Amino acid sequence: MRTAGYAAYTDQLRLLASDVVKGSWRRVHQDVEHALNGQAAQRLRSLVPLQVRRDEGAFFTGGEVRSRVSALMDTGEPSTAERFWDPTCGAGDLLLAAADRLPIGSTLAETVRLWGRRLRGSDQQQPFVDAARLRLLLAAAARHRGEVSPGSINVDAGLRAFRGIQAGDGLALLRSTSSYRGHLLLNPPYGSAPADPDCDWTSGAVSQAAVFVLAAAQALGIQQRMFAVLPDVLRSGSRYEPWRSRVESLLDVERADLYGQFDAQTDIDVFLMRAARRRKRTPSVPAGPWWPAPMASSSVEDAFEVRVGAVVDNRDPHEGPVAPFLTARDLPPSGAKGVPGRSRQFAGRLVTPPFIAIRRTSRPGSRAGGEARAAGVLVTGVDPVAVDNHLITATPLDGGEAECKRLLQVLESSEVSEWLDQRIRCRHLTVGVVRSLPWPGLG
Ligand SMILES: C[S@@+](CC[C@H](N)C(=O)[O-])C[C@H]1O[C@@H](n2cnc3c(N)ncnc32)[C@H](O)[C@@H]1O
Repeated sequence: MRTAGYAAYTDQLRLLASDVVKGSWRRVHQDVEHALNGQAAQRLRSLVPLQVRRDEGAFFTGGEVRSRVSALMDTGEPSTAERFWDPTCGAGDLLLAAADRLPIGSTLAETVRLWGRRLRGSDQQQPFVDAARLRLLLAAAARHRGEVSPGSINVDAGLRAFRGIQAGDGLALLRSTSSYRGHLLLNPPYGSAPADPDCDWTSGAVSQAAVFVLAAAQALGIQQRMFAVLPDVLRSGSRYEPWRSRVESLLDVERADLYGQFDAQTDIDVFLMRAARRRKRTPSVPAGPWWPAPMASSSVEDAFEVRVGAVVDNRDPHEGPVAPFLTARDLPPSGAKGVPGRSRQFAGRLVTPPFIAIRRTSRPGSRAGGEARAAGVLVTGVDPVAVDNHLITATPLDGGEAECKRLLQVLESSEVSEWLDQRIRCRHLTVGVVRSLPWPGLG
């Protein structure tokens, strides 16, 4: 097992649990505090090599994200009889968030029995499962403030109570479940894998997170909820629109809150989803709260034809008429540009100036010197231009340069940059998003 190094940490947790059940709470309570908050993720980074963590999709939900998941679980409904299942539980952080909501018994032994009946989990990595069980035992002891009558419980008995947390393939378990009466907690692996041959919403490489969510949605009983931490591309990427439709045919998506970068060490943007299993499966076009509301009633597509550049330079043959060739490399950061000096033969679609060229790569978040998220450049001239596919073009329907200049102003506005940061966190812009930008020119 490539995560075997993590056993050094579970050994440490076991010693700590043993001290706690022997009644040494005052001496070790701060260590327990660390074990329940952030330490499991720190040890993951120090004990399991980066490549293994990447291959397994292993990063644990600590700190602020875990608090936000806890807040998401506050649905206003009574929580005393709730059950929770995390099919990819790692070291149990989401289960710990759920356990905070569970009542306790009159003794530690009673509490672990009660929690053990309510909490279920699985992970492919045995050391993570061991850590999850030990941390839940420590969390139960912390709720009793370490008050344990000597001899009333030992570590093995405490761990046996959490036998619902087992090593196993969470995806297979979800797929063999229907009408689960309880809530699903999900922060699954995010890596890509080939879609199943019988997958009817996509083909090729697909995010494992998308696959887990659909399996989880199908496993849920009616009106049961899912609380999930997911890569933002599922919320904002055009490629995942069929996935969003599929999700909405199974679930009422109550919240899809953009969070931003997962944590200081994990450079991936995530969002938090809360959704409840629908009574009836209804096919739909995505309409859930995936994105912020449109900023205006008319949009750029009402006044511009927005397309991706047609040239894939290393693939398209040098055939057809010679045309000026516009690439992202030759584009100034902003302003205007005449017809490019570079040229190539191209038999496909050319774009006639004036038009606005926008780089597709665009990083969300703070940019140097207030730079716009979608900076455009006005391209002028007479000859039609072949445009590289790293650029998006917007050609005014009325053909005028004045319209182009108004679009430059729209793109440069801080409101549009902020809206774009909410709407699309992955590092490229899409034609759909540029089309949906507000257009103040009408009405
Ligand atoms: C992003 S981590 C999240 C762990 C935990 N849910 C949390 O939020 O802290 C994903 C976990 O999924 C586990 N995993 C990957 N594939 C799995 C599978 N098929 N079945 C069960 N666990 C899996 C990894 O070992 C890893 O611990």
